[in-house]
Amino acid sequence: MQIFIDSADLDQLRKYSQWGIVDGVTTNPTIIFQSQANLKTRIQEICKIVSGPVSSEVTVEDAESMVKQGIEMASWAPNVYVKVPCTPNGLIAARILNDQGIHVNVTLVFNPLQALLAAKAGATLVSPFVGRLDDISEDGLGLLADIVEIYANYGFDTQVLSASIRTLHHVIESARIGADIITLPPKLLDQMLNHPLTSSGLHKFMEDAKNITF
Ligand code: E4P
Repeated sequence: MQIFIDSADLDQLRKYSQWGIVDGVTTNPTIIFQSQANLKTRIQEICKIVSGPVSSEVTVEDAESMVKQGIEMASWAPNVYVKVPCTPNGLIAARILNDQGIHVNVTLVFNPLQALLAAKAGATLVSPFVGRLDDISEDGLGLLADIVEIYANYGFDTQVLSASIRTLHHVIESARIGADIITLPPKLLDQMLNHPLTSSGLHKFMEDAKNITF
């Protein structure tokens, strides 16, 4: 499973890149707004840190403008993926951009039928929002499983990116279901690594290490 970071915080991206586990980055207008950076500048800064796919979301809703923005975004760095919403205009833009060799991430996916259409429109990535469905008492992980199953039935190349991740349970289950990619808020990466027995075990080893020669 590829691991992306769902953040535009450069310090966090540098930190986790040093762990050697970052395969890509996802952003959205809210994440960019929170970074208080200019969109183009921040995406280019991120692309200097992470060589894998970096999703940059369009900020317009009509298909023509999405395509225009998408073409421009793809010129910012070779690893930019253009993120479009799962709407009729988003699908139109996805098809046009894909036909021009530009990778598209179709986002804001909340049911398997949207994911089916996104794949048909040539999306490279599809992003079901697991946590936001759970937030309204629906089954986010069930959605993820449905999409993985449907894509496998037909051999779609579109990769399933498990998004809107809130908990370690979401991470484990996304891996069990077989999501191609998961995008994680940075704090979850620390939680994934931490275990009290690792800490206490290491403390004991380091105490005893003081008494041995190297
Ligand atoms: C994914 O690409 C989105 O940016 C993100 O996962 C949304 O997560 P949220 O529901 O926590 O905003």
